[in-house]
Amino acid sequence: MNLDLRIEKHPILEFKRGRKITFQFEGKPVEAYENESIAAALFASGVKVFSRSKRFNNPEGWFCGIGKCSSCLMRVDGIPNVRTCVVPVREAMLVERQGQRAMLPSHSEIHVEREEVNVQVLIIGGGPAGLGAGITAGKLGLGAVIIDENPNPGGQLIKQTHKFFGSQEEYAGLRGFEISEIMYREFKETGGVYLNETSAVGYYGLKADGRHSFIAYRRKQD
Ligand code: FES
Repeated sequence: MNLDLRIEKHPILEFKRGRKITFQFEGKPVEAYENESIAAALFASGVKVFSRSKRFNNPEGWFCGIGKCSSCLMRVDGIPNVRTCVVPVREAMLVERQGQRAMLPSHSEIHVEREEVNVQVLIIGGGPAGLGAGITAGKLGLGAVIIDENPNPGGQLIKQTHKFFGSQEEYAGLRGFEISEIMYREFKETGGVYLNETSAVGYYGLKADGRHSFIAYRRKQD
């Protein structure tokens, strides 16, 4: 039987595991569930070393788990520096460690879609501040677009299982991941558009119709 270090029962979180899939890690098949992050699937299968430190070449495991450090960077389908702790695993992915220095991908390995976004309000970052700004803009009838590089909305909220304190208006008594779901739903109800796994790379000024023009790149889903 394959090693499986997954937590079966969690006191707060309910795991909704997707279909069982297989991907390749350095030439070996690894079993995973759809919607798991690559790092979670690797760790569950016993992989502890994700990268090497730049200066001393020391082994590094994953650290923050929310895409904010560089401990989990790996080469995925030929693309270097992928934050494996936030990127969902997909069937037949090719994952490998990249050592101390990442190699540039070849042109044929880059799969992104270019999109021109014309909006009155563009918000970069879909954490609590971005979602809050988007809700306010939506209520004012400004039709905001939020761009975020991560697969799921909510920023750091999605990893927070504790209950918040403060006022009812600020979601006191709810857990972080519940707040992110509520804020995302509220934002969508205002008619806002949320582009995940997307990076804004250029601003091209105000157009005649009063909208701002941006260029964004979105990672292709397959
Ligand atoms: S563990 Fe920090 S970015 Fe992935």
